[in-house]
Amino acid sequence: MISKRDLFLNHVAQTSPLSMMLEIERAEGMHIYDTAGKEYLDLNSGISVSSLGHRHPAIIAAVKSQLDKHLHTMVYGEHIQSPQIKYASLLTQELNNGLDSVYFVMTGSEAVEGAIKLAKKYTGRYNIISCATAYHGSTMTAEALRSDYSFSRAFMPSMPGVRHIEFNDEDALSKIDHKTAAVILEPVQAESGVNPPQNDYLKKVRERCDKVGALMILDEIQTGFGRTGHLFAHKKYGVVPDILLISKSMGGGMPIGAFVAPKRIMEYISDRPALGHITTFGGHPVCTAAALATLETVTEGTLIPDVLEKEKLIHSLLKHQIIKEVRSSGLMMAVELTRRKYLKHVVNNTIEQGALIDYFLFNNKSFRLAPPLIINMDQIKKACKIILQACDYALNQYRKD
Ligand SMILES: Cc1ncc(COP(=O)(O)O)c(C=O)c1O
Repeated sequence: MISKRDLFLNHVAQTSPLSMMLEIERAEGMHIYDTAGKEYLDLNSGISVSSLGHRHPAIIAAVKSQLDKHLHTMVYGEHIQSPQIKYASLLTQELNNGLDSVYFVMTGSEAVEGAIKLAKKYTGRYNIISCATAYHGSTMTAEALRSDYSFSRAFMPSMPGVRHIEFNDEDALSKIDHKTAAVILEPVQAESGVNPPQNDYLKKVRERCDKVGALMILDEIQTGFGRTGHLFAHKKYGVVPDILLISKSMGGGMPIGAFVAPKRIMEYISDRPALGHITTFGGHPVCTAAALATLETVTEGTLIPDVLEKEKLIHSLLKHQIIKEVRSSGLMMAVELTRRKYLKHVVNNTIEQGALIDYFLFNNKSFRLAPPLIINMDQIKKACKIILQACDYALNQYRKD
């Protein structure tokens, strides 16, 4: 009989020649289980998605309850649906900074697409500034925002009008000018291996945008919902964007995203032309019910403030001769090794020992640590012990040669 593994390889499209090939049976809380019954401690959250762990009871209950009411009824914005209005009200109340209108979509890339269209329409300009080594998704607009030509070359021609600047380079801010519709950036760059802003960089971007009338779009698709130890990273770094992008952990494991802006800006999307930006499944009632349960759960109790204690503990434990540094903003972490050759061995051996870590898109010396925020102190100690053993293993591989 043909194995599931072969069916997967034959019929499920692969995004790289090297899939992790973990055959999933179920997942609960901090753990994922494969079909052989092996337990894995999840230290990735499916790339910053499962911040409340897997199958959080509040999310499962919200999904089940919505399933019994209705699924899809009509495309975006035509029907008044309870999960959407409750979510938009609670989110904008939590934001409490003028970002009071929510356009629901399905994915992060779709939030990027909508935000760029809105910025062009609102400003009447078409130039966009994006940062080198940023990742904003893989649709054509998001692809144009990517600076690394080795990725985007195959998909040319690209959307015109995009210029790249280096993240954290204040001198480059002069490139934001009166022709710029928007600057899009992540408050903490994720895929370059966790690069937090330095020297009030985000505030300086904000000032420059205000000066020339460009919009500031903050992509909080990875940093949102407590990941950095604050509900949103822009609160941590003291800026308010014109357009905020959210997705990933927003749905607690269900697919949903949004771009959020002040109503006076968002209004531009609904007129001249009307229906100029629409989406069939944006704000799907079941996903939005899951998102509402997620937002209610992350904002109650001490889950978010506890992130900073957990971050500190990881820093204190991850000391090894092949660990060069640990960069972080809350529980969004990159562990940089002294030499690139160790990386594959550390990642593979950590997974072998039953803890899931992963690579970054644009950093070949660091691995990603982004555990569910619910991880407890004992699980952190266990995770770090496994990682340190993997570092020993990697070192020994080269001592043997
Ligand atoms: C910062 C950031 N923006 C946008 C995206 C794109 O999101 P999606 O994969 O849901 O389209 C990602 C995905 O990893 C991301 O990390």
